[in-house]
Amino acid sequence: MSRTDLLPVRVHSVTYEAEDVRSFELRSPGGGDLPRYTAGAHLDVLLPGGIERSYSLLDQGLESYRYRIGVQRSATSRGGSAFMFDGLKVGDIIEVTTPSNSFELFEDAPLSVLIAGGIGITPLWCMVQRLEQLGRRWQLYYATRTRERAAFLEPLRQLESRAPGRLVTVFDQEPGARMLDLQAIVASHGPQAHFYCCGPAGMLAAFEAATASVPASQVHVEYFSAAQAPARGGFEVMLARSGTTLFVPDDKTILETLLARGLEVPRSCMSGVCGTCETAVLEGEPDHRDQVLSERERASNKKMMICCSGSLGPRLVLDL
Ligand code: FES
Repeated sequence: MSRTDLLPVRVHSVTYEAEDVRSFELRSPGGGDLPRYTAGAHLDVLLPGGIERSYSLLDQGLESYRYRIGVQRSATSRGGSAFMFDGLKVGDIIEVTTPSNSFELFEDAPLSVLIAGGIGITPLWCMVQRLEQLGRRWQLYYATRTRERAAFLEPLRQLESRAPGRLVTVFDQEPGARMLDLQAIVASHGPQAHFYCCGPAGMLAAFEAATASVPASQVHVEYFSAAQAPARGGFEVMLARSGTTLFVPDDKTILETLLARGLEVPRSCMSGVCGTCETAVLEGEPDHRDQVLSERERASNKKMMICCSGSLGPRLVLDL
């Protein structure tokens, strides 16, 4: 089980986008084209110490010679954004995964309503550019603590000036600011609108509550962090392809147990939000803790995210 989705890229430039937000331009070291991507896509950056972090791609995938990702320095960084800000220099070569997309834009929607909180603007900025290119209607609600922390505000305002009213900004730590009223926002758009949200956990929870009566096919959410604690061990996992059986101890997840045995398994977020570690379940009943699978997929028990989900029974058989 080795990674086949990795690309070497050179850090071509780093740009200040807002307070604690930088964009990193990455190019192929040989100057060649990079695999294309669609609006809403992300890639994972492999960092020292086995850390992998997912970052959304900016722009709209039309430029094949470069990727740009947006990164916010986290006050509680466990090494990801701290390394990106302090350890990475222009000219360095790093490895990234080929882009993948778990936050696809439905391009034919008559109206796309986009709701961003903080660095959650990155995939939505990409979507805005794509919708502009297609000539589709969009409406963006963008909340940050202060305007200094609002990345990509200038190009957004330029677009908005061509059709005023499409951009609503809220700087919720500035005097007199009001929070976005997501219930009112959802209620104010027609039944055909598609709704997208990317932001902090509190915003995502409010968004899910506000869109509870909207058809699921019109609601799109991008999670950056886990909403639930991972399930822990205390059960057996049989790897069907090799016939190996492992015991997952109480203090480890399935993925941690496999890695501790030297098995290389595709992974990225390690918290159930990206889908990279999705694994087919051949027997057993998973204890699902991810934010990737739909209710129907969970109920089928045919696949699971092994970075965070566990087992409700004493044994799982996995297609590994
Ligand atoms: Fe991201 Fe498991 S590694 S869902």
